[in-house]
Amino acid sequence: MNLNLSTLALSELDCDLLVLPVFDAEIGEPSARSKALITVDALLDGALLEAAAQEKFNARAESSFVLHTLGKLKARRVLLLGLGDSAHFDPEVLRMAAGKAAKIAAKSNASSIALALADLPIDVSLRAAAEGLLLGHYAFKNYKTGKAAQAPSLASAALLLPDGMSVTDELEAVLQQAILVADSVNFARQLVNTPAQDMTPTILAERAQDMAKATGLAIEVLDKPEIEKLGMGMFLAVAKGSSQAPKLIHVTWTPEGEAAKAPALALVGKGITFDAGGLSLKPSEGMVWMKTDMAGGAAVLGAMRAVAHIKPPFPVHAWIGACENMPGCSAYKLGDVLTSHAGKTVEIHNTDAEGRLVLGDVLSLAAEQKPALLVDLATLTGAIGTALGLYNTGLFASDDEAAQAVLDAAGEAGESTWRMPLDVRLRGEIDSPVADLKNSGERYGGSITAALFLKEFVEKTPWVHLDIAGTARSKSERGYLDVGASGAGVRTLIELVRQRAAKQGE
Ligand code: BES
Ligand code: MN
Ligand code: ZN
Repeated sequence: MNLNLSTLALSELDCDLLVLPVFDAEIGEPSARSKALITVDALLDGALLEAAAQEKFNARAESSFVLHTLGKLKARRVLLLGLGDSAHFDPEVLRMAAGKAAKIAAKSNASSIALALADLPIDVSLRAAAEGLLLGHYAFKNYKTGKAAQAPSLASAALLLPDGMSVTDELEAVLQQAILVADSVNFARQLVNTPAQDMTPTILAERAQDMAKATGLAIEVLDKPEIEKLGMGMFLAVAKGSSQAPKLIHVTWTPEGEAAKAPALALVGKGITFDAGGLSLKPSEGMVWMKTDMAGGAAVLGAMRAVAHIKPPFPVHAWIGACENMPGCSAYKLGDVLTSHAGKTVEIHNTDAEGRLVLGDVLSLAAEQKPALLVDLATLTGAIGTALGLYNTGLFASDDEAAQAVLDAAGEAGESTWRMPLDVRLRGEIDSPVADLKNSGERYGGSITAALFLKEFVEKTPWVHLDIAGTARSKSERGYLDVGASGAGVRTLIELVRQRAAKQGE
């Protein structure tokens, strides 16, 4: 889809769908109405607001109303999108609304839409609307046939600047950033939505190689013998039950000159391309979505794609441990004791707690480079959804400063994230009678014991762990989300890189 900035008058706009975001106060109070709403309503002889009132459109967040203009306007339909209360405006509401507009456009076979931006300020609304449109436009259709396989009809979207504002280089740059972010999120969603049969560790590594080649990043893919040489006994054990070979993917951004020696940012992603649970086999209901268990790895790759364009003045390392967790005849067993890359031994109490094993080995390797900050993303525990619900990513951190850096980035990016306690009183639950650690604890606080397990492998490195098991996929269509992968974490990581780059430039 082609996105562009426009200063055309609302009466002159020729498009299939004209989108007007509205705050709830604009419905009842004429004085609260935006110029765009007043203009379009006047061009329609007051029919827009009258029909909206008859349909009880209240402009609450997530509400919408469509009116056909029947020749009274060059735009064929007008879509009102509710933004809720302007006093508590959150750009994420506009992002979701714009995503919904893209979906409504696709369903009504529209090929062109125009969205009127408000000065909220303008860069904030431009960014949210542009990202929302592109995220909402994404659809996973690779496995459909016939008509259903066709790409969404929407070909172009114009973002209308408020009256009197002109297109500047700054606004163009904001738009390009938004496109970069949304395309990178959609890149990750595509990897996650692809069924495990076509997204094996080998294929994921190939996709990473394609991306690195296209963007000019360095990449190294370590095969099983090299993973063996690194002594990654936990990672290798998880991979043993599958016929698919494990891959350790390492993508690097290195800036030119002195900046190459600046303290690095390291990103680690869980890349379980299918989690059957191993011998602690999952029931079918729990297994049906487990092609998405590489969403952390996909998010890290999506973020690296953007890093290549942002070119921050410090190195960024991305590591993804990719393998399947299957119950094949060579599968690792309960009671087995594994020796990790870090040297610690781990007794297996549940083969379905595999993510922490793979991540533990990869985190300890990433930590050896002494990065300034280490961030991992993983669909680690079902328990995080029980604790927080499915709207918030769970954040665990070694210290307040690291936590705040990632919370700030998540807030700015519009990804709801909630800090969880790394409560050491639960640490005893992963003590083993025979080895240094065991890989699972009691039911209560399951996300915390998983995070405490990871902590054993990062030593003193400033570290943040994002548990995206609840947020990496959506069970329904909502705003810019579709059923399937959400791309959770990509926006936060990109914003983190941008904020750190901006700080270094100060
Ligand atoms: N990949 C799962 C976590 C998960 C659950 C992701 C639901 C997305 C949706 C992880 O490997 C797992 O199986 N965790 C177990 C841990 C338990 C065995 C200690 C879980 O959450 O049940
Ligand atoms: Mn599992
Ligand atoms: Zn898993």
